[in-house]
Amino acid sequence: MSKPLTIADLKALARRRVPKMFFDYADSGAWTESTYRANEADFAGIKLRQRVLVDMTDRSLKSEMIGQKVAMPVALAPTGLTGMQHADGEMLAAKAAEEFGVPFTLSTMSICSIEDVASVTTKPFWFQLYVMKDRAFIESLIERAKKAGCSALVVTADLQILGQRHKDLRNGLSAPPKFTPKHIWQMATRPQWCLGMARTKRHGFGNIVGHATNVSDLSSLSAWTAEQFDPRLSWSDVAWIKERWKGKLIIKGILDEEDARAAADTGADALIVSNHGGRQLDGAPSSISMLPKIVEAVGDRIEVHLDGGIRSGQDVLKAVALGAKGTYIGRPFLYGLGAMGKEGVELALNIIAKEMDITMALCGKRDIRTVDRSVIAHCPY
Ligand SMILES: Cc1cc2nc3c(=O)[nH]c(=O)nc-3n(C[C@H](O)[C@H](O)[C@H](O)COP(=O)(O)O)c2cc1C
Repeated sequence: MSKPLTIADLKALARRRVPKMFFDYADSGAWTESTYRANEADFAGIKLRQRVLVDMTDRSLKSEMIGQKVAMPVALAPTGLTGMQHADGEMLAAKAAEEFGVPFTLSTMSICSIEDVASVTTKPFWFQLYVMKDRAFIESLIERAKKAGCSALVVTADLQILGQRHKDLRNGLSAPPKFTPKHIWQMATRPQWCLGMARTKRHGFGNIVGHATNVSDLSSLSAWTAEQFDPRLSWSDVAWIKERWKGKLIIKGILDEEDARAAADTGADALIVSNHGGRQLDGAPSSISMLPKIVEAVGDRIEVHLDGGIRSGQDVLKAVALGAKGTYIGRPFLYGLGAMGKEGVELALNIIAKEMDITMALCGKRDIRTVDRSVIAHCPY
């Protein structure tokens, strides 16, 4: 294949280079995957306003998210098991993000640990927190994120119980992978991936193994989530977290106006309009379709970010135009990572930046910070 030009090209390459169970883990949504599909499809319904004969020189994508400078308003979303898309995946993606100048968010359920990522980066990254029943463990995670110099805590609110993703069950997904004939075959047909994995010692959940007590079945994500994640998590727990963290706080997984107002009431710095990439409540609306309503509901009481379905720089521009101060990409960087390691993540970011830059110019704008609803010709939401 010639050099990938789109996120779809990176996806096709990742499919060939990553064992099926891990590629499928990224490319899946809950149940019928209708929300997963809607996240992408609903961007296509928004049309841009073409402007001509306006000065297009000196363009800038530079912006800010929660007061931090970003090269473009795109962060890497927290994704579990990233070190299974490519050996040491979280460390490579964090380095690529740092060099590009965008935030990297490390998942609680990562393969490389907070300390691993801190050891290869020079600037602060963000840490995503899943709240488990064992509050002592959560306190220790918060302390470790502080010690590593993380500059934001992203609290995920939409996964206290796990949405069912059929592909993961059918594939018998686990980390480290099992060694049944089916799994051995899936890995053996991806020799480059195997070579990378043979060279690293990081094959399990780096933030948890050796840190949490009473972890009986960590390899099975669904069993472990059911056992450990706290289904009683409530808005009052956000105050508990805030008290301990004290730094910038982002609440992830808001898809409803009422919840958005509650998130603003907590005094958090930002909320992320998100349905977990269509991986939790199948049948929920797409993120982009809810964005304008949520922006209207909270006004400027809290910064509004968005993730879900972004596959191009055009999508980022549309989200910014509809009021998102920042966006996140999950699968686009995972596909880059699976396809080409760190270079693939860089490529994913460059593809998105270039598409955003050209689109912005053709809409008659030169600075992403000035992009607003005036660049939209038609929007169903
Ligand atoms: C493979 C995968 C793993 C994910 N793991 C996490 C996670 O550990 N924590 C979390 O808050 N969100 C997780 N998410 C959700 C992402 O943070 C983000 O909301 C979603 O990927 C955005 O949609 P997109 O992939 O279409 O960009 C995961 C998403 C994917 C695709």
